[in-house]
Amino acid sequence: MKKNILITGGAGFIGSHVVNLFVEKYSDYQIFNLDKLTYAGNLENLKEVESKSNYTFLKGDIVDESYINSIFFKYKFDAVIHLAAESHVDRSITNPNEFVFTNVIGTLNLLNAAKKSWANDFEDKLFYHISTDEVYGSLGDTGFFLEDTPYSPNSPYSASKASSDHLVRAYGETFKLPFVITNCSNNYGPNQFPEKLIPLFINNIITKKALPVYGDGNYTRDWLYVVDHAIAIDNVFHNGVEGETYNIGGFNEWKNIDLVTLLCDLMDAKLGLSKSTSRELITYVKDRPGHDLRYAIDASKIKKELGWEPSVTFEEGLSKTIDWYLDNDVWLSNIVSGTYKDYYKNQYETGNSN
Ligand code: NAD
Ligand code: TYD
Repeated sequence: MKKNILITGGAGFIGSHVVNLFVEKYSDYQIFNLDKLTYAGNLENLKEVESKSNYTFLKGDIVDESYINSIFFKYKFDAVIHLAAESHVDRSITNPNEFVFTNVIGTLNLLNAAKKSWANDFEDKLFYHISTDEVYGSLGDTGFFLEDTPYSPNSPYSASKASSDHLVRAYGETFKLPFVITNCSNNYGPNQFPEKLIPLFINNIITKKALPVYGDGNYTRDWLYVVDHAIAIDNVFHNGVEGETYNIGGFNEWKNIDLVTLLCDLMDAKLGLSKSTSRELITYVKDRPGHDLRYAIDASKIKKELGWEPSVTFEEGLSKTIDWYLDNDVWLSNIVSGTYKDYYKNQYETGNSN
């Protein structure tokens, strides 16, 4: 049984769902959440667990090698679930360096600290690296990403994630560090920072701002409700085979424009607006450079080997997500003040994207 578990990036979107799940479900585990609290980290996401005796928050930077070594020495972690990352493709286009520091060097620091701390005694130890389907690059109109699809990342974000995946696998091969990697499709749900498509558009509909659809809107993503991702992570952490990779996805592909139209219609109904009110906010803007056409995960391996599949349909998940943002207007308005305004201006109002 694993005792001291380090979860990195636990104040972010997916990490907060993983921390909440593990702290509530496993009272015999000590959960340490290490997070730098960048713009994307928010301790509000963890208020239900913050006073639990099996939870400790560590504010720190995975790029700080001596700090990382010191916490491994102090807390003797048995396992790592590594989610901390710079995660937004558009930001990786305007500031790629930060992505290499956090996603590549940060992961390297964690691998080195784990290797040193575990000193070749790998019994019951695990380094679980959370990654993305974007490492596989872009699909055409057909086909799916499988676990053995060759890596072909196109954005600085996906290139940095691919690099970190390779390092994890290399530490497994070279040093026998026990690892598992999962590559997941696009997540949506509560706690997501309103820079990604779904929460950005929910917030813009609430505030009656334009909905900036990149290019012709015919780009396709495969969407998974974040709680289902957290459940998959729990399953892989406990049952995944060391050295293996599992793709996680919902077999749920949507063209951006179809998704945005559905979102508009659901929001109109929930806000009591007349039909098509929100659709009128849709505005086609300049495309994202290097925009991947289509992502689609074949998640049969995790279903067949570990029995995981999504529990929530897209319509249910999207409806719950909208309700969450409408109910948590304070969470949202706290975020969309201050530096968010500068980000928004730079991304959408200075000709960067439109
Ligand atoms: P997020 O941006 O919401 O959260 C990232 C968290 O990491 C934040 O709390 C941030 O403060 C923290 N962090 C950033 N830099 C750090 C540093 N140097 N040291 C310590 N903490 C730092 O990201 P997310 O969407 O929750 O993604 C989590 C992980 O899942 C990432 O590794 C991402 O690549 C992967 N992933 C995300 C998606 C998605 O759709 N969001 C899909 C597949 C995989
Ligand atoms: P995003 O949520 O940024 O995730 P990713 O780029 O990692 O897939 O974007 C999802 C899709 O939505 C992607 O095809 C880009 C598109 N998009 C827009 O059309 N407008 C926007 O303002 C944003 C943020 C994304």
